Amino acid sequence: MHIRDIQFVTSASRLDHMPDDGWPEVAFVGRSNVGKSALLNMLIQRRKLARISAKPGKTRTFNFYRVNNACHFVDIPGYGYAKVSKSLRKKWMHEIENYLRHREPLRMVLHLVDGRHPPGRLDQDAMQLLADCCIMRVTVLTKMDKLSGNARVQRIRQVSNLLESLGLSTPVVASSARTKLGRSDLLDWIGQAVNLT
Ligand code: GTP
Ligand code: MG
Repeated sequence: MHIRDIQFVTSASRLDHMPDDGWPEVAFVGRSNVGKSALLNMLIQRRKLARISAKPGKTRTFNFYRVNNACHFVDIPGYGYAKVSKSLRKKWMHEIENYLRHREPLRMVLHLVDGRHPPGRLDQDAMQLLADCCIMRVTVLTKMDKLSGNARVQRIRQVSNLLESLGLSTPVVASSARTKLGRSDLLDWIGQAVNLT
């Protein structure tokens, strides 16, 4: 898939406020600060379209971007951010799960996991949830520019083994928003999911 055109569409905080124009959707899911907004910018080659921050909890709504007048990329709030109130954290988790379970145009999820560390409990729960929802998905290891070549290979193997041990056949792609590692592979997966070349 080649990105030719990109436009911001809207922000929504709940399912019933999301666009109902039926464009197929690709969502960026993962812990706070894992690099969802940075990956979206990297894929569309616009450094500042989605707002990124060194502080977790930056993206607080579901932000819709129309790509090539053909599909939506959806940047969503991260899960697991410890510094917001428990009730707000619960509300976000509820909205994310509601979105993953019930959003009709959702065709694919990029599930981002911080490549610098082994996947945590919340990452594993998300892997299982995505499988339960039967959504086409790719596990994207982020910030891989921070790892040496050898450490990268080991992390990819570790995460692949984990997915296998959970009984999930999910592809794993190493990525970096800094070096654009993984960009063409991810665009290929997305193109397949939304039927675009
Ligand atoms: P929330 O919106 O808070 O859920 O976070 P997010 O997942 O959207 O993360 P964001 O894209 O805002 O990035 C978080 C921090 O990680 C920022 O300081 C980014 O510069 C940094 N970051 C993101 N991707 C990469 C990467 O590939 N490599 C490196 N080294 N840093 C990255
Ligand atoms: Mg974000």
